[in-house]
Amino acid sequence: MSSGEFVSQCTADSLARVAQLLKDGGLVALPTETVYGLGADATNSSAVARIYKVKGRPADHPLIVHIYSMQSLGDWADEIPSYAISLARDFWPGPMTLVLKRSILAEDFVTGGQPTVGLRVPGHAVALALLAAFENIGGQGIAAPSANRFGHVSPTTAQAVQEELGEYLEGKDQILDGGPSNVGVESTIIDCTTEAPRILRPGAITIQMVEESTGLKVSTIETDIRVSGSLENHYAPSAIVNLNRIPIAGEGFIALAEIQTPEKVIRLASPKNVDEFARVMYSALRDADAKGLNSVVVAEPAGDGLALAIRDRLMRASKGR
Ligand code: TXA
Ligand code: MG
Repeated sequence: MSSGEFVSQCTADSLARVAQLLKDGGLVALPTETVYGLGADATNSSAVARIYKVKGRPADHPLIVHIYSMQSLGDWADEIPSYAISLARDFWPGPMTLVLKRSILAEDFVTGGQPTVGLRVPGHAVALALLAAFENIGGQGIAAPSANRFGHVSPTTAQAVQEELGEYLEGKDQILDGGPSNVGVESTIIDCTTEAPRILRPGAITIQMVEESTGLKVSTIETDIRVSGSLENHYAPSAIVNLNRIPIAGEGFIALAEIQTPEKVIRLASPKNVDEFARVMYSALRDADAKGLNSVVVAEPAGDGLALAIRDRLMRASKGR
């Protein structure tokens, strides 16, 4: 099955066709700047149900609804605080998801029964073009979790989506190829239902950026909301992920370029800085599996900002599957 049959390039024609496919209840994997998403019409319960089936994800985990612009915020959310508007204005399109009180448009099947909805305007030309084409034919939003099997590494290329989900997709479904994701880790999730914003999942939009935008003190919170990305075993390859020790012969190794590779160790990535680390991390973990390695060692980058998001994902990946 996994022969590339679902993958298509992006032309104006194909985007209009794919938007119609979404409207008709099909699934479309789409590129975003963070990771690839598995998209469905966010107002179509049976299409959204297929996302859960293809991912193997529990039905009570909420999905992020992707919208074309902040103009549509009010369609999906009620009681939007002014600080959320500042965030949307400053960081959309971009790697940030806002959790807001849901409107009646956001039904249980997309929010996992939560009284809130996660919303994001992705910063990727193809994703935005698809959202525009979808709006043109009356679409209101695309529900899309990361396009991986539940608990597994998020895909940052169309080929990785094909490998993850190819055998679970159906004839009419599509994977849009928009090149490798530029950021490489999932969006920052910000709870905007309280007096001040709370970061539920760290990402490329950092605490400092959120504080500067809103003028409010931001907290980082372990939540009782079902954020599946906050489960401990997540983002994991089949290989065992070990953190911050010296790798031995036969192990894979991911570290900043300045760190040498010990003898007989298989170097999987040598990013030059933290941004590049985020960009290549998931494909390097996939590469470990493709090479049949049992074990990978990752030397985590220090510091806050994006490094914090990298360490958050690696900590979970290291808990195994
Ligand atoms: O960068 C991203 O956010 C990517 C791209 C495709 O947009 N999407 C993504 O989706 O990472 P997913 O489903 O793999 O992770 C989204 C996380 C989940 O852990 C989910 O529980 C949480 O967002 N989430 C969604 N709606 C929520 C809500 N209303 N309240 C709290 N958490 C929510
Ligand atoms: Mg995910």
